Amino acid sequence: MLPLFLPYASLIISAVTHLTAAAAGKTIFLLAGQSNMSGRGGVMNLTWDGYIPPESSSNPAVLRLSANLKWELAGEPLHRDIDVAKVCGVGPGMAFANSLLRKDSSIGVVGLVPCAIGGTNISQWVRGGELYKQLVRRADAAVGGGGSIRGLLWYQGESDTLNVEDAEAYGSRLRRFFVNVRADLHLPLLPIIQVALASESGPYTEMVRKVQLRMKMMNLRTVDAMGLRVQEPERLHLTTPSQVSLGRMLTNAFLQLSLPSN
Ligand SMILES: *[C@@H]1O[C@H](CO)[C@@H](O)[C@H](O)[C@H]1NC(C)=O
Ligand SMILES: *[C@@H]1O[C@H](CO)[C@@H](O)[C@H](O)[C@H]1NC(C)=O
Ligand SMILES: *[C@@H]1O[C@H](CO)[C@@H](O)[C@H](O)[C@H]1NC(C)=O
Repeated sequence: MLPLFLPYASLIISAVTHLTAAAAGKTIFLLAGQSNMSGRGGVMNLTWDGYIPPESSSNPAVLRLSANLKWELAGEPLHRDIDVAKVCGVGPGMAFANSLLRKDSSIGVVGLVPCAIGGTNISQWVRGGELYKQLVRRADAAVGGGGSIRGLLWYQGESDTLNVEDAEAYGSRLRRFFVNVRADLHLPLLPIIQVALASESGPYTEMVRKVQLRMKMMNLRTVDAMGLRVQEPERLHLTTPSQVSLGRMLTNAFLQLSLPSN
């Protein structure tokens, strides 16, 4: 009995060890900013339509850090227990993770750390503030279980387009935020992929957008939301299909950054 049983036991042990090793080697991404990062795709009249496109569907190789700091199978809405004051829908996170796994088979397990909160301005993300502390706390908890943080995905700015003072200060506030996050996570070259706003909502959107597009930092890439669709009639948030496109754009930008020539 024993000799027959042993090979199976060792097979099971090796499968479990393999899974544990994969989870311990998680490729972790922080997601922060405001509503478009949190995800409002499919949300209409305070109700999410429940539609999850195949590109954003759950995948055993994609985990999510829950609000109570536990890794679990990820699924849209990714921010459901984080951005709790709002109704969440589809964001770019799952589409990003799935396309990354499709394009780079060496990634293993992706760990997503949702931290975005709708309606927030850049001043609320200042070092020492609640949102910032929460971001760092969740990032620390995420690596506590093994793996390493490989990027910050950032989509914010709309709340800073309402008056000229905020729009003018946006560049320096944003740069300080990026510098501080890298310093406090002890990742001086942490890849950052940000999204440049494209809209007609705030009167100073064009100013903020220019700042985003012109910002130069090591290992920073900016993808442009211009051309992506917003949901009618509010025209405030990206549609579900546009969130899928954005996820793919974030993946491509991330993969460009990780090319050896960078
Ligand atoms: C949302 O509410 C508006 C106004 O009450 C209504 O016209 C529209 O049909 C609703 N849309 C959906 C998708 O429920
Ligand atoms: C940012 O938002 C907070 C909360 O809504 C508000 O109290 C604060 O005045 C805003 N700050 C700036 C600089 O716009
Ligand atoms: C979401 O992104 C779209 C495209 O850039 C933009 O038009 C819209 O103003 C954004 N909404 C918010 C709340 O940031």
